[in-house]
Amino acid sequence: MLRLLPPEAAHKATIRALAWGMGPMDRIADDPVLATSVWGLNFRNPVGLSAGFDKGAEVPDAMMAAGFGFAEAGTVTPLPQPGNPKPRMFRLPADNAAINRLGFNGNGLSPFVWKISRRKPGLGPFGANVGKNKVTEDGAADYEIGIEAVAPYADYLVTNISSPNTPGLRAMQGREILADLVDRVLKARARAVPEESERPPLIVKIAPDLDDAERADIAAVIMDSDVDGLTVANTTVKRPDDMTDPQTHQDGGLSGAPLFPFALEIVRDMYRRTEGKLPIIGCGGVASGADAYAMIRAGASLVQLYTALVFHGPALIPRIKRDLTQLLKNDGFVCVSDAVGADHG
Ligand SMILES: Cc1cc2nc3c(=O)[nH]c(=O)nc-3n(C[C@H](O)[C@H](O)[C@H](O)COP(=O)(O)O)c2cc1C
Repeated sequence: MLRLLPPEAAHKATIRALAWGMGPMDRIADDPVLATSVWGLNFRNPVGLSAGFDKGAEVPDAMMAAGFGFAEAGTVTPLPQPGNPKPRMFRLPADNAAINRLGFNGNGLSPFVWKISRRKPGLGPFGANVGKNKVTEDGAADYEIGIEAVAPYADYLVTNISSPNTPGLRAMQGREILADLVDRVLKARARAVPEESERPPLIVKIAPDLDDAERADIAAVIMDSDVDGLTVANTTVKRPDDMTDPQTHQDGGLSGAPLFPFALEIVRDMYRRTEGKLPIIGCGGVASGADAYAMIRAGASLVQLYTALVFHGPALIPRIKRDLTQLLKNDGFVCVSDAVGADHG
C-alpha cells in the first residue's frame, strides 16, 4: 500500500507508524552463528540499517526490533536545512533501484541530540552519521560540531563525505583535505569523550565512484590515522547501461541492485588496500542472504541496506538472516568473523 504513495510521502508515513510503535517485530531469535563483535561492540547479527532512512534518529530501536542487528541514523547537519526542491526521490522498480537528490534535508543537530540522549540501551549498536550544511565554507568545522555533539550518545560515529547531493562534499575524500578533516574530527571526538577507552569508533563513509589514485589516497590517510573503519559505499552517480527504468535519467545518487557489483568490488579492493586491518561496513544493493555473504567474504565485517526494504518490505530482514545463516554453515564457518575476507585466502 505504501508504494501507492509518492516515495517521500510513503517514507514519512513509515517513520510516523514506526515512531507510534506500529512497526513489525522479528520474534525469531538470531542464530548464534550470526553474532559478531566489531570495535568491541556486540552485534546479534551483522545486518544493519544504513543511513538516510532515519535521518532524524526517530526510530532506530523500532528498526532493531524489526530484526536489524544495528541501526544508523542521519545524515544530520549542524543547522536545519530544507534540502533540494521536490520531487527528489524516485523509485525505479524495473531495476530494483532508487535515485535520490535529497541534499541532507533535516531538522539539524538539536532535536537529533535530544532524541539520542534519551535513548535507553537498545537491541543493538546505534550509529550517528554526520554531514555539513550546504552553505558552510569550512566543511570540516561542521563535522567537528556534529561529532562533538553526538559522540557522548552513539555507539559508533560516521563522517559522511560521499553524498553526491551536496556540492563539494565528495572533494573531501581528497588526500590533504581528508587528512585535515580526520585530524580535526578525531580531536572533536576526544573533546567530547575525554576517556580514551570510552570513545566510540569513528568511521568514514566513502563513495563507490573513486578511481585508483583516490582509493590509494584514502587508504593511506586512513591507515596513517586513528580512524576505526570505513563504510563502503554511498550511492553512485553512475548509470549502468543495462538499466531500463524510465526514471534512470534522474539526477542524484543511485542505490539498490545496480549498485551492488560496484559496491562489492570496492569493498574487496579497500579490504586489500587496508590489509584486512580495518573493519569495513559493506553497503550498496544488498537484497539477499547471498548478497550479504558475498560482501562478508569480500571483506565486510558488517553489512547495511536501505533500498531493498522499499521493494521487499521488512519481511526481507529475517529472510536475509536465515539465508546468511545457511550459507555460513554450508561453508563450515562457526561465526561471521571467520568468513570476513575469506575470498582473499
Ligand atoms: C533516499 C535515500 C537517502 C539517503 N540518505 C543518506 C544520508 O543521509 N547519509 C548517508 O550516509 N547515506 C544516505 N543514503 C545512502 C545509503 O545509506 C546507502 O549508502 C546507499 O543507499 C546504498 O545502499 P542500498 O543500495 O542498500 O540503499 C541514502 C540513500 C537513499 C536511498
